[in-house]
Amino acid sequence: MLDAGCGSGVHAAELIERGADVTGADLSGDLLAVARERLGPEVPLHRTDLRQPLPFPDDSFGLVLSSLVLHYLAEWEPTLREFRRVLVPGGRVVLSTHHPFLDFRIAGYDDYLGTYTFTEDWEQPDGRAMSMRFWHRPLRAMLAAFAAAGFHVDDIVEPDPRPEMADTAPRAYWRLTRNAQFLFFSLTAR
Ligand SMILES: C[S@@+](CC[C@H](N)C(=O)[O-])C[C@H]1O[C@@H](n2cnc3c(N)ncnc32)[C@H](O)[C@@H]1O
Repeated sequence: MLDAGCGSGVHAAELIERGADVTGADLSGDLLAVARERLGPEVPLHRTDLRQPLPFPDDSFGLVLSSLVLHYLAEWEPTLREFRRVLVPGGRVVLSTHHPFLDFRIAGYDDYLGTYTFTEDWEQPDGRAMSMRFWHRPLRAMLAAFAAAGFHVDDIVEPDPRPEMADTAPRAYWRLTRNAQFLFFSLTAR
């Protein structure tokens, strides 16, 4: 499987533990270095910009995972077409992204149906502010991009937080049980 936007390799590690044969790809050399440390020397890791053609032949993977990556991209269709190309027929994409209803509120524009970029200020562990840039697009734009790239939507999930978060991170748990912060999709290549 391809972990597209694997970051520091948290999901890849979990999936390898469960028996998956994982290739990771990410734009960030720093995060790939952390992934390399976490995953060891055997796991293929590629420094790749998901806005460009992927460095893999057609029909290379049975599954593409892309966790919390697509909201960084201005356009989804070219990337999804590449996911479609590198998947075997009938292969699947599992992806998560910012929930468009919440990010449109964070963006502060009175415009749910538009597609636009916005910034959000995050506080780093050392207290310094960090400005993050994301792309908002409505659900209908996501569904249109999936269809145009040749995918059938099997499932859409508004996830609940894991129950143990009630003890380990009560404030985040409270927020996530009331706000749809993320959206998960399961897609099949048509
Ligand atoms: C929020 S992190 C998610 C990392 C990992 N998938 C996870 O769930 O832990 C977003 C990741 O997307 C990557 N990313 C953002 N834009 C990208 C691009 N154009 N091409 C490849 N990776 C990108 C970042 O480098 C980062 O690792």
